[in-house]
Amino acid sequence: MVRLIKRLGILTAGGDTPALNATILGAVRAASEAKVEVVGLLNGFASFFQDNAPHVILNPLFQEIPQLDATRGGTILGSSRTYVNDGDPAFLASIERRINRLKLDGLVCIGGDGTLNGLQPICKMVPTVLAPKTIDNDLGLNYAGEADQWVKLDVNGVDTYRKEPHPTGLDADFCIDRMINYATPGYATAVYEAAEGVRRVRTTAESHHRIAIIEVMGRHSGYIAIGASYGQPDMILIPEYQFDLESVAERVRTIYEHQQHVVIVCGEGIIGNDGREYGASSGSTDPSGNMVLSGAAASLADALLEIIGETFFTRNGNFSTGKAAFFTRKVGHTQRGGRPLRFDRFYASQLGGNATQMLLDGENNSVSTLQWDESSGFKVSKHDSSIFRDKYGEIHARTVHPSFYNQKNFLLSEEGKQYLHPIFAEAIGAEDTEFIRQSLFDFGNLYHGYKSVNVDIAKLTRYLSE
Ligand code: F6P
Repeated sequence: MVRLIKRLGILTAGGDTPALNATILGAVRAASEAKVEVVGLLNGFASFFQDNAPHVILNPLFQEIPQLDATRGGTILGSSRTYVNDGDPAFLASIERRINRLKLDGLVCIGGDGTLNGLQPICKMVPTVLAPKTIDNDLGLNYAGEADQWVKLDVNGVDTYRKEPHPTGLDADFCIDRMINYATPGYATAVYEAAEGVRRVRTTAESHHRIAIIEVMGRHSGYIAIGASYGQPDMILIPEYQFDLESVAERVRTIYEHQQHVVIVCGEGIIGNDGREYGASSGSTDPSGNMVLSGAAASLADALLEIIGETFFTRNGNFSTGKAAFFTRKVGHTQRGGRPLRFDRFYASQLGGNATQMLLDGENNSVSTLQWDESSGFKVSKHDSSIFRDKYGEIHARTVHPSFYNQKNFLLSEEGKQYLHPIFAEAIGAEDTEFIRQSLFDFGNLYHGYKSVNVDIAKLTRYLSE
């Protein structure tokens, strides 16, 4: 029996992305049309961890609050990387009590693979669906059945997962039309920042005959790195392809000899074929258990210098040391922040609206997804969350399909170009460029400080009474 829905909860969890407010707005508008009230839970699942469950009514009298603006980056609800611990019955009971006291008939969680893992215990308390977001573009599958390829190994007492080739050769039959959740909101805007970063770095590397290594986010997925191809780097290294350092150095030498500078993009999770994890230098994990990656570009620069040797750079007097020939740049959190591009705004709000509709239709534990095929283009759809799970119940980050990458020249392949084109062909709207023109050098910016939406939200925040 489909449950009558009068009040929905919504939260944003995990690292923020530029299009979260657009997703919230899409979900709230669909709810308002159905005369459903929406409660925004503050700071992700952390709201449920407090007895007074801080929250905001997002559509009083079925009219969304003015702070909910699809062009605003970040999330007006705040986010955190805290997830519900399934193994603690007393804790779970306290969360269920709060959900009941909030009178929620359904919950939309906006998040990535960590959030999809984290919402499982909550599905048993209240119908819950995921509206996807992540700049890493790693929530999805290259094809149905991909999750079954993961096997769990015990490496020195630690559970480690490895992806085996598909027993029935499904991976050989790969086709972009059949990808599940083709792209996630936030990815296009992150790639815009990364590609623009490559272009800006290019001319300074070119003028000073240097080797620039630009590190982009994405953890163990190379989607942002391949998207940075739009900035025309000379080489790209992605975490999915374990490279031979000698071959990379050889290619660097060849390009350098030809054009006296090289621009390399590397994903933060790159790994050498000797197993060396260039970006895992800190060795620590964040609260959701993800490895904190940093320093891939700097480690790669050191390794390349060691192989290529000082004299290659110092021989003509341009540089006094080989080290001076290299510089590294992390695109960093500018990939995650700021105004979303049109592609992200548009599909994020549709995915949010679809998530609300899924709850109204009685769905639970499923994902609002974005599909693409040649004949119909993009359209929203839905998938049961079990399709993303391996046989042990785990969800793994989607990796860049090997066919998207050309290992010979360390660049995007023809198939990779076909994959990116539908996302980026019209990703930037005229209003996006006009916004920059009108807003950045507004004289008023010199007189008024930044007004944080957190101040407004604090005034609207309600609490469950003790
Ligand atoms: O998952 C999004 C992401 O931006 C990754 O690309 C990156 O590795 C990580 O989050 C950074 O997290 P934090 O902001 O917690 O340092």
